[in-house]
Amino acid sequence: MAMSLSLARLALPPVLQALPGRRLAHSALAFLAAGKGYKMKTHKASAKRFRVTGTGKIVRRCAGKQHLLSKKNAKRRKRLSKMVQVNKSDYSNVMGALPYLKVNKKAG
Ligand SMILES: *[C@@H]1O[C@H](CO)[C@@H](O)[C@H](O)[C@H]1NC(C)=O
Repeated sequence: MAMSLSLARLALPPVLQALPGRRLAHSALAFLAAGKGYKMKTHKASAKRFRVTGTGKIVRRCAGKQHLLSKKNAKRRKRLSKMVQVNKSDYSNVMGALPYLKVNKKAG
C-alpha cells in the first residue's frame, strides 16, 4: 500500500502538492489515484475484521470471546458477542487499510 500511496502523491495536481503539512483523507487519495489509472489495494486481513453499518459507522468484534469462556459469566459472554463501534480516533487507521469503505464520519 505504501507504494500506491506514494504514486498517488506524485500524481497530485501541483496546487495540492504545494500545500505543506496538508494531509488528504484516504478516500480522497483513492479517488485521485483512480483518476490517474492507479487503484489503492484493500488490506484483505482488515476487510475480514471490520464492516460498516447502514448508518456508516465502522464496527468490530470484541476481544475475549474465543476461549476460557467457562470462567466468564453469561452476561459478560453476551456483551462480548456484540459488535461494537470502532473508536473515532482509530477511524483513520481503518480507512487507511480499507480506502473503499463507505464510512460516514458524522454518524454516531
Ligand atoms: C478513544 O480514543 C481516545 C484517544 O486515544 C481515548 O481517550 C478514549 O478513551 C477512547 N475511547 C474509548 C471508548 O476507548
